[in-house]
Amino acid sequence: MRAIVLHEFHATPTVEEIDVPDPGEGEVRVRVRAAAVNGFDLGEVHGFFTGYFEHRFPLVLGKDFAGTVDAVGPGVEGYATGDRVFGVVTKDFLGDGSFAEYVTVPTAVGVAPLPDGVDFVHGAALGLAGAAALACIEAAHPAPGRTILVAGATGGVGNQVVQLASQAGAHVIATGSTEAEQQVVRRLGASEVIDYREDVTAGLRATHPEGVDVVIHLAGDASALVPTLRQGGTLVSTLVFSTEGFPEVPDVFVPIAANPTPELLGRLAANQVDGLTSVTIQRAYSLTDTPSALADFANGTLGKLVVDLDGDGVPDGP
Ligand SMILES: NC(=O)c1ccc[n+]([C@@H]2O[C@H](COP(=O)([O-])OP(=O)(O)OC[C@H]3O[C@@H](n4cnc5c(N)ncnc54)[C@H](OP(=O)(O)O)[C@@H]3O)[C@@H](O)[C@H]2O)c1
Repeated sequence: MRAIVLHEFHATPTVEEIDVPDPGEGEVRVRVRAAAVNGFDLGEVHGFFTGYFEHRFPLVLGKDFAGTVDAVGPGVEGYATGDRVFGVVTKDFLGDGSFAEYVTVPTAVGVAPLPDGVDFVHGAALGLAGAAALACIEAAHPAPGRTILVAGATGGVGNQVVQLASQAGAHVIATGSTEAEQQVVRRLGASEVIDYREDVTAGLRATHPEGVDVVIHLAGDASALVPTLRQGGTLVSTLVFSTEGFPEVPDVFVPIAANPTPELLGRLAANQVDGLTSVTIQRAYSLTDTPSALADFANGTLGKLVVDLDGDGVPDGP
């Protein structure tokens, strides 16, 4: 099969022919129809997870996937060949990735049925960003009367957070730099948009002198955003795991580690089917062009970049 392979940290990933993997105990093999790019993939390339995960080189990159079950390993119940599925490759080592024609995944975590109403490209874009977004929402308690700043609203996680927080009745302030970004986050439900190239903290202190209830930090410098919080406010972050060394610490701090359980993935899929959330696909790439997708991701996103193995022509642009 063709796969996107990394031979050592910091190397350029290459398209290679490798053996099709066999599903182990409790695993299914998925014929990947689409996969999505995440910051995690770039972190893997640059060795950010050394000490946290065993890395098995040559390593196939990719976390998010959608496709059909192609083979069922011993001990698996509830899945059969041909089932449509999606999720996040979740193993205790890195090396089996979704930027490939086939991937094996444990059924205990990181995979769930993909409803007929969600196509493979959108299903592939849901898992990791959606799992992080739901965890952020749980920590932020959005409700009428609460004001939430979403820093990094234009990315995959932010898109989902803005939709869910605004639907819950919160007043959402989203970051966005270009006109296109500002339009997208407003369409997703943001009541206010602030350009992060300007001084966000000074701007918010002028317009919201009482401070915001919650900052959901998905991009930029978390410590710089703490002064925008009201007394007793909460900082939620997918990026920092401690506030040690911050000049000012928030009263409440919730670090996020996404956990794509089948139940949570099921909620993400249901939200799509019910029209509660939508995923913005910025651009689709062929498997061969995955290295370009990774490079483009590093330069900023407006929604999700997807690798479409069927090449069925999702148009460019948000
Ligand atoms: N802890 C976890 O379990 C977990 C899970 C998923 C994701 N994450 C992390 O969470 C973060 C968000 O994920 P994502 O997938 O949404 O990433 P993403 O797609 O890269 O989104 C980040 C967005 O922020 C914008 N941005 C860049 N600099 C900014 C700044 N200073 N202020 C405000 N916005 C800025 C970027 O757009 P432009 O540069 O184009 O403006 C981009 O749209 C990533 O760092 C990711 O690695 C963590």
